[in-house]
Amino acid sequence: MTAPDISVILPTFNERENIQILIPKIESILKSHSFEIIIVDDNSPDKTWEIGEELKTSRKNLVILRRMEGKGLSSAVLAGMSLAQGKVFLVMDADLQHDETILPKLILPLLENKFDITVGTRYSIGGGTSNWSWFRKFFSLIATWIAKLFLSISITDPMSGFFGISRSYFLKTADQINPRGFKILLEFLHRSAFAPRILEIPFLFKNRQFGKTKLDGSVIRNYLIALLDLRFGKWISPTFLLYSLVGSFGVLVNLVGLLIGELLSFPEIQTSFRFLNPFYSSVLFGIELSILSNFTLNNYLTFYEKRYTGIRILQGLILFHLVCLLGLLIQISVFQFLYHKIFVYELQSSSLPIKLVSDSLAILAAMITNYFLNLNVTWKGSKD
Ligand code: GDD
Ligand code: MN
Repeated sequence: MTAPDISVILPTFNERENIQILIPKIESILKSHSFEIIIVDDNSPDKTWEIGEELKTSRKNLVILRRMEGKGLSSAVLAGMSLAQGKVFLVMDADLQHDETILPKLILPLLENKFDITVGTRYSIGGGTSNWSWFRKFFSLIATWIAKLFLSISITDPMSGFFGISRSYFLKTADQINPRGFKILLEFLHRSAFAPRILEIPFLFKNRQFGKTKLDGSVIRNYLIALLDLRFGKWISPTFLLYSLVGSFGVLVNLVGLLIGELLSFPEIQTSFRFLNPFYSSVLFGIELSILSNFTLNNYLTFYEKRYTGIRILQGLILFHLVCLLGLLIQISVFQFLYHKIFVYELQSSSLPIKLVSDSLAILAAMITNYFLNLNVTWKGSKD
């Protein structure tokens, strides 16, 4: 069999009703072309792969890849691409949400070698989303906006899961792609050594009729991790970066807490340690507020996969407080050591800048130890 012009790649997870409808639709729209359809199913519990095998009995150009190991949208798409024979690959959702009638518009410009990537877009004139909830619309727009800003990608819908890519462009970029990455299109757009020629085609993103979305709360976390990885991954762990972002936000919360405490005239406290007196309880309030905010954000963002839920949140909170306390001790000890033992005693220099340098190093030390403690103790078993 000679290689087809087009390889349509359909990642599936629990789409048994949908693929039975979609395959004939694709066939009728592409009937004047030579094409193959590759279903990459991650061993769906609803046995989508079985329906695939049934459809295959009356077709020569249908390939079913039932992956027993590994799971995930990006890696499924990549697996499909590495099997694909066509000159052009077309990736679409198998759940009928992507409008198959624009397939020729996505495919022909690639076959004619006028473009390297074509994208079905919801956000340019003529495109749209059906009745999405305001939350989903809002999140999708923010996410798109951050991607554009962060990665200087100029297309209107870099998050789209509906796109075409020429085999030659795929071959040139394939070994740069992170298969655990979240958005495979972003990977292709961003990791390549040269700028691809991109064409956008608007379409209306339809509502699902059968089955349900696989995107859950981890999407937000994974998306931020993916962006940080795309942008800074060469140098530093994206989880650590996210953790640091949460920490920086915590500083803000800390100060706001102090402000609230002052405005509400929280009392001064006399402690039994002379050096602490008078102690402003608004400072303590700020600290506690930032600990709570850091815990919550880390629980639902940084370490989402290993998050505490229900009553266990209390356990997590206690551990987190202990780690924070340890951090405080580390910061104070390192500061005392650096400032008094090294700078003042050994180098005989003492000044405000020296204090600031000592404290910065102390904060860094505390932050790094805290990160590893949180990673390995508080949120034990987190994969990153
Ligand atoms: N093999 C495999 N493995 N397929 C998967 C997996 C997986 O782990 N997760 C999802 N899929 C398949 C689904 O069966 C479907 O065909 C397609 O990938 C899209 O998954 P949905 O769960 O329907 O995603 P969505 O509709 O919520 O999200 C769509 O819109 C996003 C933008 O808001 C997708 O097109 C995303 O790619 C897109 O970014
Ligand atoms: Mn969908």
